[in-house]
This record gives sequence, structure tokens and C-alpha cells, in this order.
Amino acid sequence: MTLIHAVAEMQAHADAARAAGRRLVLVPTMGALHDGHLALVEEARRHGDHVAVSIFVNPTQFGPNEDYARYPRTLDADLAALGRAGGVDAVFAPSPEEMYPLGLPPLTTVRVDRLGEHLCGPYRPGHFEGVASVVAKLFTACRPHAALFGQKDAQQLAIIRRMAAELGFGIDVVGMSTVREPDGLALSSRNRYLAPEERLQAAAMRRALDAAEAAVAGGERRTRAVVEAMLTELAKAPLARVQYAEVVDADTLQPPGRLLPGRYLAALAVYYGATRLIDNTTLEIV
Ligand code: PAJ
Repeated sequence: MTLIHAVAEMQAHADAARAAGRRLVLVPTMGALHDGHLALVEEARRHGDHVAVSIFVNPTQFGPNEDYARYPRTLDADLAALGRAGGVDAVFAPSPEEMYPLGLPPLTTVRVDRLGEHLCGPYRPGHFEGVASVVAKLFTACRPHAALFGQKDAQQLAIIRRMAAELGFGIDVVGMSTVREPDGLALSSRNRYLAPEERLQAAAMRRALDAAEAAVAGGERRTRAVVEAMLTELAKAPLARVQYAEVVDADTLQPPGRLLPGRYLAALAVYYGATRLIDNTTLEIV
């Protein structure tokens, strides 16, 4: 496992692997690796024969009042976890100066229209522009054939898919299902911020998504009623402060009036204390 800090060195490493005929797969992360990340790494091996993991806490995707400064930075533990997991060829861990050599904020960014209008978009202005821009930069630094992203961040995945297709990166964007704790809580680097009682009640998010699935399975086709089913479940957890509960089309991320046959996303953002968690599930209507 080669540890690389410089963009030029990463590009040279990727070019050499490409020249040797290998298929390169990238797993972009912000570190503080948990089993959800490691599942992506394991899946990556099925999509190629050279796996790179990037670890970079990207300043441009955090708002001024978000947790950039206190986001966990655990490079040594991350490298140990990747070493134990095995099958990783390169770890790309650049500094902010290396990624933004001309300073912050960058003048050149990538903005994906419309897909940021709902869900997290309105609550995190500039977030998805920061994500799309840094992922574009990670793509040019790591030059992969394929890149893996979790369905846990479904809006991020949809935006990156669109960006990769419209900018013609020639990179396969692969989605990976969400890894959960036994009680249903989606693994997240932010779960470590939760106090014990908050952690217990955080499982209400998965129960709310279950309620959305059950409503649809029971024949409910009114979007508002599916949303209400989620809110009813979350109301049983007094520490849960709901930022949004929404149902949107899985591709356009726009809210439908009624649920016609198609694929939808039921999605939540919930605060427990100062910790903001997100989760979602796919609703299939035939
Ligand atoms: P980060 O939050 O570290 O997540 C890295 C990848 O792991 C993302 O694709 C995310 O969807 C996936 N992931 C997180 N929790 C997961 C879980 N419980 N199960 C499966 N996959 C999970 O997302 C980012 O970093 C950043 O925005 C990034 C794309 C790296 C750009 O900075």
C-alpha cells in the first residue's frame, strides 16, 4: 500500500498502473474510516484490479457553521484499518494546500443544477458545489476507470453521476448500498459525536424509513402521507429534531405530486443535539 500526498505523484502512480494494463478503482473518503467505508473498499476490488482510497477532509464542502475544524482526522488509524482490510494499492492523502494550490476559495468550481434544489441542498448552501468540485479534482488526480460512492449519501451520488456523465470523465460511477448497525442506524463518521441516549434514539431514523416502505407497500400513493408516516415514527424519539423528511424522484430529486410507477427516494436529515445525521431508502413502485 503506497501512501501518496502529492497530486503529481498520484497521477504518475496511476499512469504507471494504467500502462501496466490495470483497471483502476477509486474510493473517495474524508477518512475517519468505519465499516461502511471498508465495505466500499471491498466492493472496489470487484470492479478493478488496482484500488486507490483517497482521504481528504475537503474544506470547500463545509459551511461556515459546520464541523470542518472538528471533523475527525485519524490518518494513522485509517491506514491501519486499510492495511488490515487488505487489497488497497494506494492511499492518496493530500493536504489542503496540495489540493488548492492557488488558495481558497478556488475560482474554478463545478456546479450541478437542479439536483441540489431539495433534500440537503437548501440547508447546506455551496455544499454540493464543493463536493462536485473536489470529486472532479480527485478524478483528475487519481485517473480511475471506476469510482465507488455510498447510497447513504444518495443526493451526492446522483450529483456525481450527473457530473461524470456531463463532463465526460469516462469514469464508471458505482453506487453501494448502506452499511448499518444492528439496530438499523447507518454507519457514519459523525455517529461518534452522539451521546449515549442520542445514539439509542438515532435508530428511529431507520424505523421512519421502514414506515415509508410499509406505507407504500400498503398501497399509499400520496407523497404527503408517506412523509407523515416518517414524521410519526420520528416523533416517538424526543431527542430527534427533524430538518427534513422528503420523498423525491430517485433520478431528478424533485418531489412528485403522487407516486406513479417509478423509483423514489425517501430521505431524512435529523439533528440529535448538534449532530446532523442523514439517511434514505429507495421506494420502488411498479
Ligand atoms: P465520507 O463521508 O467519508 O464518505 C465516503 C464514502 O463512503 C461516500 O461515498 C459515502 O456515501 C460512503 N459511506 C458513508 N457511510 C456509509 C455507509 N454507512 N454505508 C456505505 N457507504 C457509506 O462522502 C464523502 O466522504 C465526501 O463528500 C467525498 C465524496 C469524499 C468528497 O469529499
